[in-house]
Amino acid sequence: MSGVQHNVILIGPMGSGKTSIGKQLAKLLKLEFVDCDHELEKQTGASINLIFDVEGEAGFRERETRMLEQLTTRNGILLSTGGGAVCKPYNRELLEAGGFVVYLKTSVRNQIKRLSHDKSRPLLQAEDRVQRLTKLAETRNPLYSDIADFVYTTRNQSLKMTANELKAAIQPQLDSLPTSECHAHSRH
Ligand code: S3P
Repeated sequence: MSGVQHNVILIGPMGSGKTSIGKQLAKLLKLEFVDCDHELEKQTGASINLIFDVEGEAGFRERETRMLEQLTTRNGILLSTGGGAVCKPYNRELLEAGGFVVYLKTSVRNQIKRLSHDKSRPLLQAEDRVQRLTKLAETRNPLYSDIADFVYTTRNQSLKMTANELKAAIQPQLDSLPTSECHAHSRH
């Protein structure tokens, strides 16, 4: 063993629990929890909403890609990504090479429940949220599935139970990963 720890990368739509489940799971796996959007907010000193307002979605996506480039070269992190991080083929390459990818799968119905009071997500500012999330799911769900090493369908159980179940499911797979596969692109 070289002591290099694999990253775990959480992907999935808004409101699938990437941040809340991710924090618990990181503790169980003894990984550092890192949230891509939060890192962007720290770096810019601006909220995601403000970045969208000032630079538009294209500006945000550019920043998101640069941040993913940085974060996926790290080791031993549990990386929570934004729901749209899988849209660009280049981002998908970064994520696939950057760690063990876990897709948190959920339904639009559950997203609506979880996000009912949310004002921090610019793409949710729509009159018909169900329609907006359904459209996003149609284009993005196949992309999440495409790069996932493991798919976990979230259910209505406690965060702790979810994290425990997820850990039990992926730990054997993490243990069997060859350490040389760590971050192909970290050597660029
Ligand atoms: C987005 C999801 C958000 C955030 C931004 C765009 C998306 O992250 O990156 O508002 O395109 O679905 P969460 O998935 O953590 O909400």
